[in-house]
Amino acid sequence: MSKIKLYSGGTLPIEMHRVSTVHPIRLIPVEERVAALDEAGNCSYNLKSEDVFIDMLTDSGFNAMSDAQAGAFHLADFAYAGSESYYRMADKVREILGKEFFLPVHQGRACEHMLAKAFVKQGDLIPTNFHFCTFQTQTRLQGGDLVEFLQDKGLVTGGEDGFKGDYDLDKLEAFLSSTPRERVPLVRIEAGTNLIGGQPISLDNINAVSETAHRHGIKVLLDMSLVMDNLHFIKTRDNKRMGLTVREIMREMADAADIIYFSGRKLGFARGGGICMNDEADFKRVRALVSCYEGFPTFGGMSSAELEVMRQGFDDTMDENVISQGPDFIEYMVEEFKKRGVPVVTPAGGLGCHLDADRFCAHLGRREFRGAALAAAIFIVSGVRGMERGLSSEKHEDSIAPFELVRLAVPRRVYTLSHIKYVIDRVCWLYEHREMIGAMRWEEEIEGDHLFTDFLRPVGDWREKLAAEYKKAGLED
Ligand code: F0G
Repeated sequence: MSKIKLYSGGTLPIEMHRVSTVHPIRLIPVEERVAALDEAGNCSYNLKSEDVFIDMLTDSGFNAMSDAQAGAFHLADFAYAGSESYYRMADKVREILGKEFFLPVHQGRACEHMLAKAFVKQGDLIPTNFHFCTFQTQTRLQGGDLVEFLQDKGLVTGGEDGFKGDYDLDKLEAFLSSTPRERVPLVRIEAGTNLIGGQPISLDNINAVSETAHRHGIKVLLDMSLVMDNLHFIKTRDNKRMGLTVREIMREMADAADIIYFSGRKLGFARGGGICMNDEADFKRVRALVSCYEGFPTFGGMSSAELEVMRQGFDDTMDENVISQGPDFIEYMVEEFKKRGVPVVTPAGGLGCHLDADRFCAHLGRREFRGAALAAAIFIVSGVRGMERGLSSEKHEDSIAPFELVRLAVPRRVYTLSHIKYVIDRVCWLYEHREMIGAMRWEEEIEGDHLFTDFLRPVGDWREKLAAEYKKAGLED
């Protein structure tokens, strides 16, 4: 992706690809959008894709494939054992990440399942810059827990620090010095950091965390699910690394870790996941679990065709024009929102543009589902599906989420700038009518961890009133 300077002033993110396969989308009338929300229990995860106009729920498994990936699909060797597709992917991992052993699994959380089973025991603690919900769940299921060491700058939605995913090294050091070594099986790094708005971690910080962990005799586990964006941010924000190629940055990062895992639904533009490492004993330990829970280790939980797509996706990821597309669109959205006073997480991160629902819906209480209400309101006034990241998906013991965000994910190469401009326009309309957004409450609260499928009910008829006001504006035929 390149930013083009316009003759008329300003810059424009311009797509460095052309489109050859397309999928039709439709915008259902506003009354039907309210009815679709009813059926979905006001949870955007439960909406049917055919009712969604622009799908910004996630990029996961939803990034557009390159022509080379579509071609690679047909190279698949579906042999149950010893598939050529597996060996080609394992070679690619060796080449790009420098790790000897590779295990495919069906998606990111399957990596976490295998790793937690292999390494976590009752009472263990795993330091991390910030939790991701699936890894937290898997760790807790084994009787362990996560301890977060994110620097304070990462816990505020504003600011302009380029690496808000950084670890607080002093706190990590103090923790490792005071906690028995046998209770800390791994130190985890998430690059980039999903739940604080897709914010990156710096390479210097990754290296320092690695040095600290190794000095204490503890292995480093690196979650590279969001590494595409993180690579781009290192290349564009880190003065020391700007001259390096994406491949060189990727390798330096990988070298800091003992075990790497990723959601191949994100890294690799495919639908799968993978774990890699250099230690043969660790490999054998995890391989036994993959064999038991996922599938024979040369396909794990994946189709061989997706393994081929992922292999080509790794090559595509080494191209700055490919990995900058998402972040450049996100930056465009963030800048436009900032100009119009719409509260967003800054600076622009990866994965999506994150609206700050706490400020957007400041008229609602902290237990009134600001994020879920905002996500529902956006769907009503635009047909755009975002993702609530707050009380509904990130329930805390005290029923208050650390942040109430709505993520408008930017799946790579899927939408054009006119789609993005439409989203900005409708969110701005909503911001001007934000007082109309009302509260939500649980319809049925599910015990334990929330898996994004909870049903919520609006308090009062604010959704219908919002729909009527939007209709009055005459923005849709
Ligand atoms: N780690 C990170 C940092 C993730 O963002 C995700 C998924 C996972 C692990 C789990 O991977 O979905 O393939 O099982 N994030 C998705 C998202 C769900 O939409 O942000 P998975």
